[in-house]
Amino acid sequence: MTEKNGRVFSGARPTGRQHLGNYLGAIQNYVALQENYESIYCIVDIHALTTVEATKDLKLNTREMALDWLAAGLDPKKSIIFVQSHVPEVMELHTILSMVTPLGKLTALPTFKEKVRQNPNNVNYGLVGYPVLMTADIVLYKATTVPVGVDQFPHIEFAREVVRSFNFRYSTDVLLEPQGKATKIPKVLGTDGEHKMSKSLNNHIELAATPEETEKRVMQMVTDPQRQRLSDPGDPDVCNVFTLHKIFSSTTEVEEINAACRKAEIGCVDCKRRFAKSLNNNLQTFRERRAKFDTRDGYVRDVLADGAKRAQAIAAETMAEVRAAIGLYEV
Ligand code: TRP
Repeated sequence: MTEKNGRVFSGARPTGRQHLGNYLGAIQNYVALQENYESIYCIVDIHALTTVEATKDLKLNTREMALDWLAAGLDPKKSIIFVQSHVPEVMELHTILSMVTPLGKLTALPTFKEKVRQNPNNVNYGLVGYPVLMTADIVLYKATTVPVGVDQFPHIEFAREVVRSFNFRYSTDVLLEPQGKATKIPKVLGTDGEHKMSKSLNNHIELAATPEETEKRVMQMVTDPQRQRLSDPGDPDVCNVFTLHKIFSSTTEVEEINAACRKAEIGCVDCKRRFAKSLNNNLQTFRERRAKFDTRDGYVRDVLADGAKRAQAIAAETMAEVRAAIGLYEV
């Protein structure tokens, strides 16, 4: 890998098949960044254990997510793609970093408070330390740039503070302070037109769905809520379908729909049908690649095994520096 603009690291929990929100909010960005940065993308399966109690789908979800990433254009020749638990050094670094982390800082984070509210019966030690593990991910691989949604910015700021504490306590500069890089599309709304697209709300559109399934999902989408009848003019500016048309349809089509909707010359059903068509056209290559990678024997496993090997090489180097900086006895 050549020196480019710096090193990118990002991680995502293994949620299985990816949806439009994952694609527009994260994956698309990862794919673009691998051209100009040394890039490392990680499926954070250990992070998932903080909230997931039943792990029966974990293996499959990890594989499906990797498959989607690859089909969407993450290229193992350009990026390191791996699974967090395959490089256990991150857990060692997590423990070491936890000693320079004030507990009060962790419990004050908005993300932690939110998790407690969502699941008051599973406030485990690992959940409190979630951002410390995330910090370990980033600094183990000496990432300079971390593409994330704005909801993760408090975690990046937290990581910077932990790095400063570590470097200060051990009078060293081995750990780098990362910079967050906000994704261009901050929030993709689900088919309900109201909440962020997510699998748990079942308002998502899967990338790997068949064209028929996709059309069915699209036809369920909520449009401009003020528009009651076909004869009412619509307001594309408040319509989630139009927002997505702007991303997936041609400029001519977008202009046409914009004008027609405002004059009540096109109804929501037709508009959605056209969106489903655009979306399916856009996803065709993705789906073909996915099917090919899925059936190529051992392909996903080989990519992840190679990614783990390359990630491990970086991790081993950082850990040697960390141990030396602390002054641990070496043999
Ligand atoms: N905390 C991130 C999320 O919930 C996932 C994550 C774990 C991550 N480790 C990371 C993101 C390192 C960026 C860098 O979305």
